[in-house]
Amino acid sequence: MSDLLRIGASPTDADVDAWHSVVTAAHAADLPPTVPAPCRVETAGGLRVPRVRSRHINLAVPMSHGRPGEFAGVAALRLFDEAENRTTAWIERLAVRPEVRRRGIGSRLWEALRAVLVEEGRTSVGLEVELGGAGEQFALAHGFRCALPLTVYVLDLAHEGGAPGPSLPNGYRFVEWTGVVPSRHAPAFSLAHQAIADVPRGDLEMRPRVWDAERVRVLQQANVDRGAVLLTVVAVSPDGAHAGYSVLGLPSSDAVRAVLYETAVVPAHRGLGLGRAVSLRMLEVLRDQRLPVREIAGTVADGNRPMRAVGKPFGYRPERSLGFYQARWDYARDQYT
Ligand SMILES: CC(C)(COP(=O)(O)OP(=O)(O)OC[C@H]1O[C@@H](n2cnc3c(N)ncnc32)[C@H](O)[C@@H]1OP(=O)(O)O)[C@@H](O)C(=O)NCCC(=O)NCCS
Repeated sequence: MSDLLRIGASPTDADVDAWHSVVTAAHAADLPPTVPAPCRVETAGGLRVPRVRSRHINLAVPMSHGRPGEFAGVAALRLFDEAENRTTAWIERLAVRPEVRRRGIGSRLWEALRAVLVEEGRTSVGLEVELGGAGEQFALAHGFRCALPLTVYVLDLAHEGGAPGPSLPNGYRFVEWTGVVPSRHAPAFSLAHQAIADVPRGDLEMRPRVWDAERVRVLQQANVDRGAVLLTVVAVSPDGAHAGYSVLGLPSSDAVRAVLYETAVVPAHRGLGLGRAVSLRMLEVLRDQRLPVREIAGTVADGNRPMRAVGKPFGYRPERSLGFYQARWDYARDQYT
């Protein structure tokens, strides 16, 4: 559409404010009040700092009646650059101000994204939706189908504390860092990072990535550049290999809700209690940091029994249901599959 704005990689502060205003208005309308709204640091970081090995297309629809510079809706598309995911992509944001919904603005944004996807030769795209809300209805109406159901679990740190301290098998030890992985740990950490490939993907087209020291460093650096505080705990085996790890992120240093980014244990070290050990150690590390965090949220695929078992004794409560939805199309037949 002619009035669609392309927001480049260096948006003005006014563009960030206008984008953030849509995102927070949508958040207030669509999510339970217990879920903290995204902060401006997160919005600005998301627009200004590209994700690892990706290009971003950010679009906005201006408000037709409103203050100059205001947006009615926004959409952010992530185009993976790596060979294994060249045919798919991810919609990181698609939001319309509550007062102008059901007027086709979301559909216009989707059509514009789809034109980019076609031009790029992508045959599928995914996005995250809150189940039971407008997002799910919209996604279904546009040919998306649920590829992976998930649940968000939240641990209230005020009620946590009864859990025993972490214990490791003989010879194992913890290594921790704040921020980007130190270069001396990066090679071993990148090997352990391959274990994240075992996270259930349901019907998603997205393939696991191959990690190396540079890629994990770039991954963590991008999160830090986006304004996040990152905490990493690793269980190191007697031979010095990184056997399991957990990464926690705070969207900004004053965030009250931390997000569990990843927990994974290398297959050869599974069944030894390392998943729980790194998770318990993370709680201690978090306490030592004296950050204002009051709760931890983790999103787990409903079919991921091992991860649900790891979190069970901690007192995580289910907060809400999500789905990774996906649309696929067949160019030859020019139709959704
Ligand atoms: C999802 C969202 C972007 C839709 O924006 P919108 O501008 O209202 O969407 P459209 O007007 O283009 O709606 C297109 C179709 O989607 C479906 N739809 C959208 N919202 C719906 C709702 N609340 N209930 C039922 N169907 C809905 C309808 O089929 C609608 O067509 P219709 O109005 O002719 O019946 C908006 O509700 C939003 O910002 N939600 C929160 C963020 C979110 O969930 N994003 C992920 C989207 S997949």
